[in-house]
Amino acid sequence: MQYLVTGGCGFIGSHLVDKLLADGHSVLVLDDLSTGSLDNLNPEAEFVRGCITDQAAVDAAMRNVDGVFHLAAIASVARSNEEWSWTHKVNLTGFVHVADAARARKCPVVYASSAAIYGDNCALPLSETDEPRPMTAYGADKLGCELHGRVGALIHGIPTTGLRFFNVYGPRQDPKSPYSGVISIFADRVMRGEPLKVFGDGHQTRDFVYVGDVVRCLDAAMQTPVRGARVFNVCTGRATSIRELAHLVMMAAGREVAVRYLEARAGDIHASIGDPRRLRSAFGFKPETSVGTGLMQLLSSLGVGEKAA
Ligand code: NAD
Ligand code: UD1
Repeated sequence: MQYLVTGGCGFIGSHLVDKLLADGHSVLVLDDLSTGSLDNLNPEAEFVRGCITDQAAVDAAMRNVDGVFHLAAIASVARSNEEWSWTHKVNLTGFVHVADAARARKCPVVYASSAAIYGDNCALPLSETDEPRPMTAYGADKLGCELHGRVGALIHGIPTTGLRFFNVYGPRQDPKSPYSGVISIFADRVMRGEPLKVFGDGHQTRDFVYVGDVVRCLDAAMQTPVRGARVFNVCTGRATSIRELAHLVMMAAGREVAVRYLEARAGDIHASIGDPRRLRSAFGFKPETSVGTGLMQLLSSLGVGEKAA
């Protein structure tokens, strides 16, 4: 099969590209390299540099594909609040461009939604039937993608699958920006012997899911398309607090650094734990890699595995 992966030079997208190529598929990547890098990209993939806000570029990339994995987005919640209009264009209009381009061939669209759509909904663990209550521009736009995914299925007959990723981590997650995922930042700082910054009291929790598990879910969603629109949590069902995470990263790296507590981020979700049962019943598995195991894999990819306890 021939697949388009938008955002295929990014953290999650580049792992997906590796899997698709290993399974014998052809892969075209559309990416503007704004947060991704060609260093991440498997040389066997075909690459087009372009922006998801450009409908003509999306149409051209979609011309011959059997399915699209839409991962291109501005993944930072904090950045979405600071750059509201631009992130909206990328994160929601970009999705509509992809769905619109899928109309002609009715090819399946598997796209990244997010746990951020649940916002301040306190029902834990969060299941797909719980009310979306986004608190940030990012969460609102991801929910918008799901609504347009429904329109794509109902009006245009495009099979759409939204995967509500919880907090994904693993090798190739870029730690360099202040907006990067917390695990990538903590691992990088511990390795450099720099203090960890915790925003808020550190009692906020996240359901951390390893990138290898996420890629299996993306693949399963494409291989089992259905008519209509569907959404799934991609999560483990287990919570880790940011305080606990700081400790676990230091343990896995075998070194200690100071931990500093700073003001909480605006719109930061207090507790986020997903219910993986719908995913498991549809695909026959759920993410299983524990944070301890995943951290060891991440740190060993950074060359510190032999130091780990
Ligand atoms: P990432 O920043 O590593 O990857 C995003 C990719 O999209 C990058 O290669 C970037 O260059 C590209 N991109 C950004 N804007 C673009 C544009 N306008 N046009 C074309 N390409 C563009 O982030 P990631 O963590 O790999 O996230 C992938 C997807 O998963 C995103 O949709 C994100 O919102 C979603 N997601 C991520 C997490 C997580 O914990 N990492 C959780 C939930 C959802
Ligand atoms: C993350 C993803 C987002 C996804 C969402 C799903 C990234 C960059 N963001 O958002 O795409 O949709 O999960 O749940 O991957 N923190 C610190 N110190 C730091 C960095 C972060 O204490 O140095 C805290 C944050 O305040 C937050 C938690 O760690 O409480 C997680 O932050 P972050 O990794 O940025 O992810 P989310 O905001 O949950």
